[in-house]
Amino acid sequence: MLHDPNHLYIFDTTLRDGEQVPGCQLTTVEKIEIAKDLEKLGVDIIEAGFPVSSPGDFQSVVELSKAVNDVIICALTRANENDIDVAADALKYAKRPRIHTGIGASDMHIQYKFNSTREAILERAVAAVKHAKKYVEDVEFYAEDAGRADLEFLAKMIEAVIAAGATVVNIPDTNGYCLPDQYGAKIKFLKEHVKNIDQAIISAHCHNDLGLATANSIAGVQNGARQIECTINGIGERAGNTSLEEVAMIMKVHQQSLKVGTNINSKLFTHISRKVSEMMNMPVQPNKAIVGRNAFAHSSGIHQDGFLKHRENYEIIKPEDVGLAEADIILTARSGRHALKHHLERLGFSLDKEQLADAYKRFLDLADQKKQITDEDLINLVKVEA
Ligand code: KIV
Ligand code: ZN
Repeated sequence: MLHDPNHLYIFDTTLRDGEQVPGCQLTTVEKIEIAKDLEKLGVDIIEAGFPVSSPGDFQSVVELSKAVNDVIICALTRANENDIDVAADALKYAKRPRIHTGIGASDMHIQYKFNSTREAILERAVAAVKHAKKYVEDVEFYAEDAGRADLEFLAKMIEAVIAAGATVVNIPDTNGYCLPDQYGAKIKFLKEHVKNIDQAIISAHCHNDLGLATANSIAGVQNGARQIECTINGIGERAGNTSLEEVAMIMKVHQQSLKVGTNINSKLFTHISRKVSEMMNMPVQPNKAIVGRNAFAHSSGIHQDGFLKHRENYEIIKPEDVGLAEADIILTARSGRHALKHHLERLGFSLDKEQLADAYKRFLDLADQKKQITDEDLINLVKVEA
């Protein structure tokens, strides 16, 4: 498969790895709504589910395949014929189907999950890819727990599955174990030692157990990965997956050094983040990068003053670029006169220096008693002055 080396494919797995989280299950109708939003957002691939896992998941993959036109629809399987047959059946209406098959690659998984040997696992991996190729041209292979796998064996496995027809090779850090330089070095090793690596796209699939999912995915890209598997709000098993919105904004902010781009329309982030959070019943932490409630809220006096003088002093992303109307200047006891003046002017009050100094004293008294000051509080404060 020919691909543009400067394009980073965004593989969204909100509806598969994300939806596996207890309490996050969605109906097929809800999944279709999110898939249509993901298509508008500009993702390249939607992982729609794991069809053999339940009749509901099977049906969702069928319906998503019908509902989505331009994006690749992907279905997950284990490395066995039945899973692959069922996935192929679920994908029958997809305009651009992909089967995502794979098996454990670390000795830990080989021994304690499959009670098998490296040789037998390698055979199963190759057989699974060959079987999937009977149905679809686009076959992605995942080497589960690649983060802890022996490098030489991983390289052998990846070379064998590409020779069998894999178009994308996914190197999951399933347990969120790697450090960014370790994960990057793994991708570099594969780039340099797998003879046929140029016939496939390398994909980074990182979990967030140590809070490193996004950093590891970026390290993957810096070393040759051209697909990132991620979810809206970073939801996913345990501590979650790589967050889609973080990856896309990193690509935008650091385009000059990373030299790859995505098709993502970041202006839709706030909308889709809130929708996924509500539908999946998963609140977003307030300090979450890009989509958290406080991601564009300035609250300390020093920051507020600097921001009001020149917003780039404290802003590397414009709130409008992620679909927010404006940054927030939160009034608390840590705010300074400049922030108070800004809010009073916004409410139509223009105070001279002395009036502002008086109002600021009353403001501080009030702010010491309240966590946050509202517009109504400010109006009362100025009315006292009058
Ligand atoms: O984390 C993982 O290894 C996965 C695979 C099934 C791709 O989700
Ligand atoms: Zn995963």
